[in-house]
Amino acid sequence: MGVKGLVESGYLNSIPPEYVFPSNLNDLEVEEVPTVDFSQLTAGTPDERSKAIQVIGKACREWGFFMVINHSMPRRLMDEMLNVGERFFDLTEEEKQDYAGKELFDPIRCGTGFNNGLGNVFLWRDYLKVHVHPHFHAPHKPADFRETSEEYCKKARDVAEELLKGISKSLGQEENYIHKKMDIESGSQLLVMNLYPPCPRPELVMGMPPHSDHGILTLLTQNDVCGLQILHNGNWVPVNPPPYSFLVNTGDHMEILTNGRYESVVHRVVVNSKATRMTIATGHGPPLGAIVSPAAELVDSESHPPKYQGMKYRDYIELQQTNQLKGKSCLDRVRI
Ligand code: OGA
Ligand code: NI
Repeated sequence: MGVKGLVESGYLNSIPPEYVFPSNLNDLEVEEVPTVDFSQLTAGTPDERSKAIQVIGKACREWGFFMVINHSMPRRLMDEMLNVGERFFDLTEEEKQDYAGKELFDPIRCGTGFNNGLGNVFLWRDYLKVHVHPHFHAPHKPADFRETSEEYCKKARDVAEELLKGISKSLGQEENYIHKKMDIESGSQLLVMNLYPPCPRPELVMGMPPHSDHGILTLLTQNDVCGLQILHNGNWVPVNPPPYSFLVNTGDHMEILTNGRYESVVHRVVVNSKATRMTIATGHGPPLGAIVSPAAELVDSESHPPKYQGMKYRDYIELQQTNQLKGKSCLDRVRI
């Protein structure tokens, strides 16, 4: 019935033991998270553009994470996407059952986060994952899901591509470097909608455990409820974004491609007792069949020999998402 169903059943006097996942909520450090002004990156003067690229480079080097403001995604579309996502989670269990895919690469899959590798711990999160590129898919209910998500995902790709240009430049390469290297034209894009209902004992559960994302770049937006924390210099830093901003993090394949210059960031999600949090993430990566290894241009064989071995993107996702890691980082499996 999902976490939403569990909460709505009204019998939640105590947290079912399989959901217990203490999160050390006190272990917080408030630090200023880097912010990139997208309009300066794409439409600024040469000086503003080069400053924006510097901010991106520093954020990628030091954080693996930044917030993006003044971007090209219409606010109207962000609202519509959150709205249609909410209506998806409001469908009856029976209606959602059509999408309770069992296979990892099923184009549409919904369910409740199961924390593989760490024993029988459930997560306080319901999700919907849809493969939207290179082949577009959408659930047929709610009726407007397809149209809204198609427009949203297209515009998210546009934002991601501009950011990848800035990131390429920050690596000292020409702006289409990553685009070409990762064949983004035919690359994979995954739409993930996450729903975190309120929990009477938030300190006992986890919305999402610490993890890094596979792929190159993840763009995330949330309703007005916070919960994302990123691991920075050993501290969990809570992210309190301005409304309608994008939260952007680099993924494992950025780390592999850049031979560790831009490391992926570990992040987690905590929940609260008052309000439902909803997030929309789009994950951008190479084609599933691509083998990603450190780029020759970014490897200096004398002082920085390759630190990762190549692995097919599809196999990497399978390794990360199935029950083989026992809580370890997937990156450790490709590290030389
Ligand atoms: C993810 C993720 C964070 C959030 O979907 O991989 O980290 O705040 N989501 O929902
Ligand atoms: Ni993530």
